Amino acid sequence: MVMPAQFTLHPELEIGEIDPRLYGSFIEHLGRAVYGGIYEPSNPSADENGFRQDVLKLVKELNVPIVRYPGGNFVSGYDWEDGIGPKHQRPRRLELAWNSVETNQFGTDEFVAWCRQANTQPILAVNLGLRGAGAARHLVEYCNHSNGTYWSDLRIANGFRDPHNIRVWCLGNEMDGEWQIGHKTAEEYGRLACETAKVMKGVDPRIEFVACGSSSSKMPTFPEWEMTVLDHAYEHVDYISLHTYLGNEENDTLHFLAKSLEMDRFISTVVAVCDLVCAKKHGKKTINLSFDEWNVWFHSRAGDEEIAPWQIAPPLLEDIYTMEDALVVGCMLITLLKHADRVKIACLAQLVNVIAPIMTINAGTCWRQSIFFPFAHASRFGRGVALNLNVRSPMYDDRKYGQVPYLEAAATWDREQGNIVVFAVNRNTDAALVVEGDVRTFSDYRVVEHITLTHPDLRARHTAESPNVIAPQRNGDARLEAGVLRALLPEASWNVIRLAKLH
Ligand code: AHR
Repeated sequence: MVMPAQFTLHPELEIGEIDPRLYGSFIEHLGRAVYGGIYEPSNPSADENGFRQDVLKLVKELNVPIVRYPGGNFVSGYDWEDGIGPKHQRPRRLELAWNSVETNQFGTDEFVAWCRQANTQPILAVNLGLRGAGAARHLVEYCNHSNGTYWSDLRIANGFRDPHNIRVWCLGNEMDGEWQIGHKTAEEYGRLACETAKVMKGVDPRIEFVACGSSSSKMPTFPEWEMTVLDHAYEHVDYISLHTYLGNEENDTLHFLAKSLEMDRFISTVVAVCDLVCAKKHGKKTINLSFDEWNVWFHSRAGDEEIAPWQIAPPLLEDIYTMEDALVVGCMLITLLKHADRVKIACLAQLVNVIAPIMTINAGTCWRQSIFFPFAHASRFGRGVALNLNVRSPMYDDRKYGQVPYLEAAATWDREQGNIVVFAVNRNTDAALVVEGDVRTFSDYRVVEHITLTHPDLRARHTAESPNVIAPQRNGDARLEAGVLRALLPEASWNVIRLAKLH
């Protein structure tokens, strides 16, 4: 018999304003993310731009306000000039990050046009691996300057009269990783990030920058890397990046579900470093966090070793996600909400085919993976401010993480709309969990619905032939009586409990 978990829903437990960009995603020139994913001119659903409308429909349903592009590791070897202008003149190149052939039939202009159709904003990364401040400066001029200069007029000649107005720029990608093309030390990268930001801002003073933090909290240079980079670049950047991929390599579900605690500690440490650098510099500016790559990634790793090099858009990183993975993604989303005061940008990596919530078949159909649902729920309903729920939960013991609460939860409160949403994962794989919330300060609210996502087989997954095996149900029993919100969270479940103000 598992004891109930308790929580308190109170306006004074506000964590911070949720930046809508917390629900971003990522498209890299990698595998079939672009070619066969968002772009496939020969697909029956493609429009005159070659954009798959079936995929766009699911992207809109997922509701991603920003999308990072073009990489990822890809960007560190990318010459952005290859991807603009008449398509028949664009070069085919060996792409060294993923050992593929890049045709450049899709580039910056196509991506911005695709973003407009997808109701999303682009975030662009610049190549600080093999290139540097010069190429980055020209790219901002191409994208953001109105007209009357070489690069802005070239954009206009290429058919884009209005500037793309890209607001947020990533200064390279995972520059701490020895796998990165043009890998750098923290000193080298910190200097380069600083100088690149200066010239790019010279072209457009309105833009913001994400500096590369560590590619994972396991990196040997973490957190010294962040200290050094910010020591150089503090004055010129606005965000520092974090990346985390989790996996169940040990085939141990409870341990896998506990791994979001790693992400939580990573965020707290990076916040501490940002604030330390600020104090050291007697600065006024708060450096916020851009968690611009996060997800589950492990299913495809072994298979990818077998894929022959130098193919165009090979099926790389095509993780097929299970119910268990959806729970971990749910825990990761809740972790981001718990740090909404400092994590202002986050990107689920990635969006289509490559470790993605949306899968496609070349020349064929597309469907939602299990992880699509928690993300879509959080993005659709998790707006306003984030509330800490002060959870008191029964625990289990994990060999690495120690005491792990069965209940992972956070709430959001949209004051204007009068909506409260409790997002909760029951990590217990053997028993349902009773939760009781003290909601006396919100007693003028009622339960609108309690959505659950669960499946008796934690290894259940979707395929093109069976795309509806794991489906959210409005079957939860949450009820609010006399200032207490009670609900039974099924074993191993993702839950969305929506409350609305009584009129
Ligand atoms: O998202 C896949 C890859 O993971 C990205 O290219 C890289 O930044 C990270 O290592």
